[in-house]
Amino acid sequence: MPETISVMFFCLGNICRSPLGEGLFLRAVADRGLSARFAVASSGTSAHHVGEAPDPGSVRAARAHGVDISSQRSQQLTSAHLRGHDYVVGMSASNLRDARRLPGAGDANLLLLRDHEPDEGLRGLDTPDPWGHGAAAFEEVYAIVERCVEVLIDRIVEERGL
Ligand code: 4NP
Repeated sequence: MPETISVMFFCLGNICRSPLGEGLFLRAVADRGLSARFAVASSGTSAHHVGEAPDPGSVRAARAHGVDISSQRSQQLTSAHLRGHDYVVGMSASNLRDARRLPGAGDANLLLLRDHEPDEGLRGLDTPDPWGHGAAAFEEVYAIVERCVEVLIDRIVEERGL
């Protein structure tokens, strides 16, 4: 059996942005026939929403594009997650700062989602937090995540020789 490549998306609450990361990454690897090669999860740096389903705004944005993320449940990012995943992908610079504060956190496998923007001019930006905003904010996050996961998968495919 080939090794499984593990990918963890994270944000602050694990109810808005990173659930879309998990859901859209899963769909994209399925579209490429690579589902069996990946284990995908998401988490948040805060414990505020642990156990909760994704925000209705994210559920709706995903559903509008044929992706069901409603069965996900929020969990908090831990040091063990950082050690246990090949790629740990944060949604913003502040998410990455918070992750680096976890005991034993290295830097090696921590990535910023938007460093994978197809348009180089957009790299390095934060994925805006849509929490408490309207449908357009969730749609914007959906679009960012959808295009960035493709470039991220291209990178992983190349690095891992898939
Ligand atoms: P997320 O959005 O980090 O994309 O899940 C947020 C959800 C909740 C809070 C902040 C951001 N909050 O402050 O509770």
